[in-house]
Amino acid sequence: MAAAGSAVGLGNLWKFPYVTWSNGGGTFVLVYLLAVILLGIPIMMAEILVGRRSQKSPVPAFESLGSKRWTPIGWLGVAAAGVILSYYSVIAGWSLRSFVQCMGWSIHGYQAPAAKAFGLFLANVPMQLGLTLLFSLATALVVYRGVSGGIERTTKLLMPVLFLIMIYLGITAATMSGSGHAARMIFTPHMSRFHPRIVLEAVGQSFFTLSLGLGAMITYGSYLDKKASVFRSAASVVVLDTFVALMACFSMFAIIFSVPGMKEKVGASTVGMLFVTLPGIFYQKMPGGLILAPLFYVLVAFAALTSTISLGEVLVSSFIDYKHWSRRKATIVASSLVFLGSILAALSNGGMKALSTFAFFHDKHGVMATLDYLAANWMLPLGGLGTTLFVGWRLDPLVLQRELGMKKATWLFHAWVWILRVVAPAAIAAILVAVAMGKDFS
Ligand code: TRP
Repeated sequence: MAAAGSAVGLGNLWKFPYVTWSNGGGTFVLVYLLAVILLGIPIMMAEILVGRRSQKSPVPAFESLGSKRWTPIGWLGVAAAGVILSYYSVIAGWSLRSFVQCMGWSIHGYQAPAAKAFGLFLANVPMQLGLTLLFSLATALVVYRGVSGGIERTTKLLMPVLFLIMIYLGITAATMSGSGHAARMIFTPHMSRFHPRIVLEAVGQSFFTLSLGLGAMITYGSYLDKKASVFRSAASVVVLDTFVALMACFSMFAIIFSVPGMKEKVGASTVGMLFVTLPGIFYQKMPGGLILAPLFYVLVAFAALTSTISLGEVLVSSFIDYKHWSRRKATIVASSLVFLGSILAALSNGGMKALSTFAFFHDKHGVMATLDYLAANWMLPLGGLGTTLFVGWRLDPLVLQRELGMKKATWLFHAWVWILRVVAPAAIAAILVAVAMGKDFS
């Protein structure tokens, strides 16, 4: 459940719908689903296995199962965890605002927000810093308390509630007039829209949403019961995560297509879909919106929290293992460092012009978009590439087989090993090279 909590987060509720929307729908979804099946499940198994076998956090895990030569993969992951956590906490803070907004409506009645309200909110520096700080403190507190006690208990309680709400949202959205349009957009691929960059974004998204490529699943794998099945754990996390992503996407698109003029509005701010378009419509158009809209944003915040915790845990457990610090010291140092990054990210959506407008990578403007692009589309796939090579070539297949709890090596086992050895590394490397050589860096 904690691993599912790590996976299900803003990647599903915020990012997947808007990335799907801005990449034109079905083509992206198809490539994404292929990436989840071909890379996601095998790499998730590889990470959990490394963690459970070594009983360590990422860097020492690579060292103890392999050698010092492999530790750069672990360090890259720790860096990626810091980068992602820094901007992720800012977006997580936005969900608190949507919650307050919906609560306000529930108490005082609906009031249409001014057209520029969200932009003003993003440019409001004290507000952005305050919400981010609040969220970062919550993350630090849970990580400080340790994963197994606090986080396991909370996720076990909250994840089922989140699933129920998602199912309700999906069913209600299906009865709305835009649902056919939404389903067609999500499930009809148009090969003319195909572009190598879509593959990069899809692979990046699959790593991001499944919490792969930086050792989060290594860390959680190290806490996994020796008797639990690695395959079943990996597969259930992937299935739950994909379900939530598709459900969120379908519901949002259906709602958007049901309300005249909404499609154009979203076009202007795809990034803000979850926080701009949805709260008002959710509150007004969905039966029970009065209660469910605020509840939904509480759950978004909790979904984000169970994800930031896993990112924080990667940093903190690495500091503990590597520097031999106490959990308390490690948490304080890691959170403070990350918060420095958060400040830059929090000011990069209009708060400070210089941080908001520059673009190193094609259409990625500002610190937040740049960090997201670097971490999700480059660092995670690179980390995943390293992990597949490590598990595929460095570890003994007999050890793998035993760790998976298999008495005999079935054809599925061999298929998995060869995916790790050849298919996944070749695919990831080819995508990274194709995009790096292309004109995407201008
Ligand atoms: N998977 C989370 C989401 O979809 C984000 C996340 C948590 C993550 N831990 C991670 C991403 C580790 C990459 C690696 O929102």
